[in-house]
Amino acid sequence: MKAWTWLAPRLMSGLVLAAPVFAADLPTAERARELQNLLIQDCGSCHGLKMRGGLGPGLLPEQLSSRSPEYLTTIILYGKPGSAMPAWRGLLTPSEARWIAQRLLEGPDS
Ligand code: HEC
Repeated sequence: MKAWTWLAPRLMSGLVLAAPVFAADLPTAERARELQNLLIQDCGSCHGLKMRGGLGPGLLPEQLSSRSPEYLTTIILYGKPGSAMPAWRGLLTPSEARWIAQRLLEGPDS
């Protein structure tokens, strides 16, 4: 393993800890791409590739206008017991779930 691959994440987490709270919520560019893929492929398998709904409800901004980012983050992390909506906390950190919630509220074109 190259020293840089060991060092970089540690440097980054140091930076993130020192940064203001809102910046700490932002994933790295690479992780953001992974999250975007997860959103389209995994979430899209139930909510539709364009988030217009399928097995799960549509998740477009106009359909979520009454939902707070905190509500969406909680559903993403813990799922909805008794429904097909799974919990994602094994795969996503709370700030990553919050990031996805924000993407949903801003819409696929943002
Ligand atoms: C296996 C199918 C499935 C997958 C995969 C899935 N969902 Fe869901 N989701 C559902 C269903 C079904 C509901 C509706 C639950 C209910 O209210 O009965 C739901 C509800 C939701 C809600 C709540 C919407 C609201 O207005 O209350 C959000 C937010 C959500 N899903 C986001 C996601 C995200 C983000 C992902 C990917 C990380 C995802 N879901 C993956 C099936 C799925």
